[in-house]
Amino acid sequence: MSPPGGPKGEYRRAQPEGIPVNPLVQVQDLAKVFDVSAPWLNRVLERKPRQVVHAVDGVSFSIGRGRTLALVGESGCGKSTVARLLVGLYAPTRGQVLFDGQDTLALEAAPARLRALRRRMQMIFQDPYASLNPRWKVLDIVAEPLREHGLAAGAAEQRARVEALLQAVGLAAADVHKFPHQFSGGQRQRISIARALATQPEFLVCDEPTSALDVSVQAQVLNIMKDLQREQGLTYLFISHNLAVVRHVSDEVGVMYLGRLVELAPKTTLFGRPRHPYTRMLLDAIPDIHMSGSARTPVQGEVPNPLNPPSGCAFHPRCPHANARCSAERPALLATGGVLVACHAVEEGRLPG
Ligand SMILES: Nc1ncnc2c1ncn2[C@@H]1O[C@H](COP(=O)(O)OP(=O)(O)OP(=O)(O)O)[C@@H](O)[C@H]1O
Ligand SMILES: [Mg+2]
Repeated sequence: MSPPGGPKGEYRRAQPEGIPVNPLVQVQDLAKVFDVSAPWLNRVLERKPRQVVHAVDGVSFSIGRGRTLALVGESGCGKSTVARLLVGLYAPTRGQVLFDGQDTLALEAAPARLRALRRRMQMIFQDPYASLNPRWKVLDIVAEPLREHGLAAGAAEQRARVEALLQAVGLAAADVHKFPHQFSGGQRQRISIARALATQPEFLVCDEPTSALDVSVQAQVLNIMKDLQREQGLTYLFISHNLAVVRHVSDEVGVMYLGRLVELAPKTTLFGRPRHPYTRMLLDAIPDIHMSGSARTPVQGEVPNPLNPPSGCAFHPRCPHANARCSAERPALLATGGVLVACHAVEEGRLPG
């Protein structure tokens, strides 16, 4: 069997192969640097240097209309930062976000157009309790974006829209009068989804939307999200560290490590034939739901300190296949057989099949 990736000559620079035809979202060389230095006076007195975290460092991907791209990776690899950059909660240090062909950064100068564009994208957060105002009734929580964007004329129309939204996510119209604390965790996340859908967005950024829920409720919420996607043609960026969930919801999967994409592949390819050693390590650690008794290898080692990332390939200290090139030279994300991988060992055909 030929080694994964095949001969070296098969490789090409990433782009444009991974780009779907007419994508809704295109992210190009996106980067975000956070300055986490101590205050100026402390730095001067204690002779400490300025410190920065490259939370996201040159990430590029596209999401086709009606598709779901999942981002996975261990804690701190930059998933939430990508999500926040996409919906405009952070300004990027570098790079571009195109939504339906429009450069969202260039639109900063045209607030009305930017607002109209932002209405078409919404975000769902991990903790539904923290993201819902506990003093507001569900009616007001879900109607707020309608009022904000002037989408429903009077109180009666607002209420009718909110009731329809609640029913779309499997809640009762009569729930409009309740407060968030009167719901279970799964129901609260449905309220968040109803609220996100109020502006009739095309693109939903979901940051660990079901991580706070127990397994059976998780499945219900995920199924509602999939149904809504089918019915309304929604496009999702779905962030999760749970690979079983990712397998359930995604079409494409991006694996992140310390701010960079290390592998980007269609779901079936990624789960069927993972290329990057880090992807393989994550997949090896998935609990075996079929109880076949095959041994699982827990994820080895720890994520390095992002303030002082390793040289070359950031994964090399944990990688069983690392050599001198890996510690010296950062691998580029290269295309091979419809998959993008950033790994010298894959590129050189050094990995066992
Ligand atoms: N507002 C901020 N200020 C400073 N550093 C930040 C900020 N937000 C994120 N970071 C840093 O950026 C890196 C990426 O963080 P991020 O929250 O994007 O990771 P994540 O992949 O979402 O992790 P998790 O799975 O734990 O949610 C981390 O090192 C984090 O400490
Ligand atoms: Mg996060």
